[in-house]
Amino acid sequence: MKIALQTPRLSLRPFVGADQGDLAELFADEAVRQHLAMAPMGRKGAAAFADRFITAAREEWREGDCGALALRLHEEGATAGSINGSVIGYCGLRLLPDRISAVELLYALGQSHWGHGLATEAAEAVLAWGFSNLGVREILAFTRPDHTASRRVMEKLGMISGGETDRYYGETLAQYSISRGRHKDLNN
Ligand SMILES: CC(C)(COP(=O)(O)OP(=O)(O)OC[C@H]1O[C@@H](n2cnc3c(N)ncnc32)[C@H](O)[C@@H]1OP(=O)(O)O)[C@@H](O)C(=O)NCCC(=O)NCCS
Repeated sequence: MKIALQTPRLSLRPFVGADQGDLAELFADEAVRQHLAMAPMGRKGAAAFADRFITAAREEWREGDCGALALRLHEEGATAGSINGSVIGYCGLRLLPDRISAVELLYALGQSHWGHGLATEAAEAVLAWGFSNLGVREILAFTRPDHTASRRVMEKLGMISGGETDRYYGETLAQYSISRGRHKDLNN
């Protein structure tokens, strides 16, 4: 749980209990929820969801060496590892139930931060960390087929479209992936 990443504009670190309020704000926004396949919920439901998300992320890090990381902007006082600064979203890697050589990339940002390249910036750092620290051969990402912004993030990361799959999450999703070799080629 010691991981702390820095990008030009963002600090990434594991979630702490104090992030619950910021994360609840994120999940309370219908525009965010609709892309994450989350059921409608009020503020209380979003707070409970944020609690469960933080607990699950901390467990993922303990048990699987990867998980979601909290995103904070440097301009809000966030530095590597510190708890200062509001959490504006998350980005990270999650183990897939049936894959041993691949993990899934995740990301979400509060609506007021969309459209500035921040998801791509965070995900670039997470992909680089993943290939350096996990023994995976590839990193996958999934999104609803009509979610153009998320597909665009995956494309900007150099991920390749693998068509659609209904293997995960109980619905048909567009699947993208990037291999260790391709990531190395693109980043050298
Ligand atoms: C998807 C999401 C993470 C994108 O974050 P972001 O920081 O705005 O992403 P970026 O700015 O790095 O890149 C977005 C790209 O999509 C493009 N885009 C955004 N909305 C678009 C739309 N409706 N149609 C076409 N392109 C769109 C942007 O122009 C940009 O591409 P460009 O750099 O080539 O111009 C953000 O919208 C979000 O958090 N949504 C809610 C949660 C979510 O959907 N998570 C992903 C689940 S799979």
